[in-house]
Amino acid sequence: KEGLHIVGMGHYAPEHVVTNDDLSKIVDTNDEWISSRTGIRRRHFITEEKNQDMAIAAAKMAIEDAGIDKSEIGVVIVATIRPDHMTPSVACMVQKELEFPQDIPCFDINAACSGFMYGVQIARGMLLQSDKKYGVVIGSETLSKILDMNDRSTCILFGDGAGAAVVELSDTHRYFSILGAKGDDVVLECSNEDLQPRHVSMLGSEVFKFAVSTVPKTVMQLLEKAGVTADDIDLYVCHQANKRIIESVAKKCKQSMDKFYINLDEYGNTSSASIPIALSEMNQKGIIKPGMKLICVGFGGGLTWGGAYLEF
Ligand code: ACO
Repeated sequence: KEGLHIVGMGHYAPEHVVTNDDLSKIVDTNDEWISSRTGIRRRHFITEEKNQDMAIAAAKMAIEDAGIDKSEIGVVIVATIRPDHMTPSVACMVQKELEFPQDIPCFDINAACSGFMYGVQIARGMLLQSDKKYGVVIGSETLSKILDMNDRSTCILFGDGAGAAVVELSDTHRYFSILGAKGDDVVLECSNEDLQPRHVSMLGSEVFKFAVSTVPKTVMQLLEKAGVTADDIDLYVCHQANKRIIESVAKKCKQSMDKFYINLDEYGNTSSASIPIALSEMNQKGIIKPGMKLICVGFGGGLTWGGAYLEF
């Protein structure tokens, strides 16, 4: 089987909402600056939840949505830059709590905001060697734990959440993937005597320039692989980092913004969780319909990028 089909989707966002006005009481910023420069209005931050709690909730919803027999799950992959512990992995905790088969590979990966797209491609490769049918791929992030709440250029951007997908090899649903990385420290998690506790630091404008060139290039490469045109694609799902980045991608691909799903106003940038949260919401709202062709593209720290052409 050459293709891949997403057969179930789920997501979880913590209940605790932090608005731009809330942040303006902590750092020198305001709703007007944040919403006009990024499109972000709110984000969800964990209170009691751990990363694994969100991953479990999202995976549970995806399994229920898929309506599959759990004994048919052959691999669990969690993309995250902020697991609860170095070991056990978040994926092993998902396996344990949701009572997945006890003899399957489960592990975490880190490709920052591109992690979910990396995870889908890795799951496909592993299913090709598995006796079982399904892979569970999750993006789950507790970024609020590594934000410097004194740095207005980063703390306003990120949020917490998890998204999950159940994938299956297919000979009816075509799938193409592009993954890449270009080692550069324009986004990094700092930890030294001057910068305590650990936090995210970023050269925002450098990441912006990288994104507006890499995402359209990845879209073009996927279109070529799939032998379709940009107009043939029903919906585009980009990593939810900044609305202006998505607008630039739409313009470069000569596509209407109506085809680009946006939920960063509600969640901010949830790194590896952003694309699966978007897919799950679109699924819940009935926006994704059988027969549709989608392109998803993530980009982020590393620097990394990852995209896929998917048929539903
Ligand atoms: N409130 C008010 N003013 C602010 C704020 C804020 N929150 N943050 C920055 N400013 C000020 C700056 O100090 C600067 O002021 P100055 O002109 O007096 O020096 C001015 O606003 C403009 O700052 P820029 O950084 O040039 O603003 P820009 O328009 O580039 O927007 C942003 C910044 C939103 C970070 C943008 O560059 C961006 O979205 N970059 C991409 C980030 C991204 O996608 N990251 C994803 C990867 S992260 C990961 O993988 C974990």
